Amino acid sequence: MRVRYTYLDRQYQTIRDEILETVDDIFSRSAFILRPEVQEFETRMASMLDVEGVVGVNSGTDALYLGMRALGLPPGGEVITVAHTFVASVSAIVHAGLKPVLVDVLPSDFNIDPAAIAAAITPATCAIMVVHMNGRVCDMAAVKEIAEDHGLLVLEDAAQAIGARLNGVAAGAFGQFAGFSLHPMKILGGGGDGGFIATKDQELAETLRAMRNLGQRQRGVHESHAFNSRLDTLQAAICLVKLRHLGGWTDRRRWLAQRYDDALANLKGLIRPLAPSSGPHYDVYSSYAIRSQARDDLRARLAEKGVETMIAWERPLHRQTGLNLEHHVLPATDRVSREVLSLPIDSEMTDEEQDYVLDVLREFHG
Ligand SMILES: Cc1ncc(COP(=O)(O)O)c(C=O)c1O
Repeated sequence: MRVRYTYLDRQYQTIRDEILETVDDIFSRSAFILRPEVQEFETRMASMLDVEGVVGVNSGTDALYLGMRALGLPPGGEVITVAHTFVASVSAIVHAGLKPVLVDVLPSDFNIDPAAIAAAITPATCAIMVVHMNGRVCDMAAVKEIAEDHGLLVLEDAAQAIGARLNGVAAGAFGQFAGFSLHPMKILGGGGDGGFIATKDQELAETLRAMRNLGQRQRGVHESHAFNSRLDTLQAAICLVKLRHLGGWTDRRRWLAQRYDDALANLKGLIRPLAPSSGPHYDVYSSYAIRSQARDDLRARLAEKGVETMIAWERPLHRQTGLNLEHHVLPATDRVSREVLSLPIDSEMTDEEQDYVLDVLREFHG
């Protein structure tokens, strides 16, 4: 049997008619730039996340970058974040004229270690950027307490966490703003790049609306040198179609995660780190990550048996040579990078395919 990591092609077959209908409608109307679908998508997301403002932009990377630019943080200010993340989290900080200060994650859930934040604060620190990894919200009570004690802003990289909640509060509703990604591989993804910023600050949202559109609040009036970073109408429309199905897809991934949890609990040597995702945490499982000290051999065995897996991330950001971040010492992150492995958890994966993955895991780790 072959089990792929993603089944976007299968997903497409389930929504093909709806997608073709909306694409046809947009082309028929030649409605490409900032048309009503963009606003409808923003309104839907704002109500889903319970925030005042959502601003569609052309990627999750731009969402983070523009969010920080719009806040007007002091040039050179330090932003504390993690090295166990996609490069965009940190590149956005650098492009906003700020200095990333990287801290460790907790190997128990791959999210920022609050104790490490406290230890990294200096007089130059202006913000903490949490990254809700794999669809699980960080320990926001601890993060917010530290932020309040030191007068710091909290920013959220929620690229992987659309729909995730902690104590009923959605990822994206905790900080000054949150950046989300609509990349095709994300839980809610378009037919190309896209993203959005969520914020409870209406004024910030209005600034961002102008910033993404060449500085225009009013057509033809440019209030600043700004950017062309609009969410395409086409992507907004595709995401609106997918939004109708997102709840069902998330339920399915959560169900698959529960099956993995139950089966993996008895396997020696495999560390399924997260506590069950019920109760305060509502995880959306953009990835299902485990740890194993025999990760590379396990991955090779799975590949041999036709099971595709992913490693996020094999080379964390402080181990990259081109980013000027090598001075960070992050032992927990290094350990995670040696042990972490993401198993297939696509909503379109069948029960039989998951059983097959479990058989290979049992054979290796039983
Ligand atoms: C944690 C994280 N931050 C930021 C991004 C950037 O999003 P995008 O690819 O839409 O620019 C991604 C995903 O790609 C991500 O996983």
